[in-house]
Amino acid sequence: MSERLPIITGNWKMHRDHLEAIQLVQKLAYHLEGADYVGQEVVLCPPFIALRSVQTLLQSDRLPMKLGAQTCHDQDEGAFTGEISVPMLERLDVSYVLAGHSERRELFGETDEVVNAKVKAIRKGGLRPILCVGESLEERESGRAVDVVTEQLRGSLAGVSVTDPQDLVVAYEPVWAIGTGRTATPDDAQEMCAAVRAELGSILGEPTADHVRVQYGGSVKPGNIRTLMAEPDIDGALVGGASLSSEDFALIVAHRRTNA
Ligand code: 13P
Repeated sequence: MSERLPIITGNWKMHRDHLEAIQLVQKLAYHLEGADYVGQEVVLCPPFIALRSVQTLLQSDRLPMKLGAQTCHDQDEGAFTGEISVPMLERLDVSYVLAGHSERRELFGETDEVVNAKVKAIRKGGLRPILCVGESLEERESGRAVDVVTEQLRGSLAGVSVTDPQDLVVAYEPVWAIGTGRTATPDDAQEMCAAVRAELGSILGEPTADHVRVQYGGSVKPGNIRTLMAEPDIDGALVGGASLSSEDFALIVAHRRTNA
């Protein structure tokens, strides 16, 4: 198995204004002081309106966390009222952009085709997509989880070339585990993340897939991060609710040192 740099991402969704965002990052930095989180990447995805203030804080306090955006438009500029482009994000030192989060797919009608255009735009702009895939409860119960995720990967990555495996992260987030407190068991999460990697192998080639980081997302908490991260194909977590608590997110980030 290859070495893959663990990556923990906090997706704040539509929570925290720009002032609350500063407070949250300050508290997080306080809780993380002295914690061992070197050797892994920590990415914060606040709402668009807070990106600038979080960027300034990370820079001025030299905090070793990276900035992520929750979505983007696929065009560089134009008459797209309300949208934000990849070059705009790049100017704010954003490193990662979530693509195809299940809430975008479900609530905003994003198809694999739309997600594919966004992934291409993110790569073209030199940023890294965190491509989210995952099945619904009904799809899982009817035994179609792997097929659904396979199709999402194929559609979202069509025509995308990845030379440096660090440039792509895939987040497996079963829809039934998001915000429900119902986490996939480490065995189930491992099985699906292994299936994701196997499919990435046929899309991108095995040597690349072996180095692409695969995150698990869905009710990740301080109490379950360790067992999830112990699985061989889980290289990180995409954290929603628990990333809004500085204490909990710090415990998740520093899970190798704490007894959570
Ligand atoms: P929760 O951690 O709140 O279940 O959310 C997961 C998620 O959707 C992260 O993108």
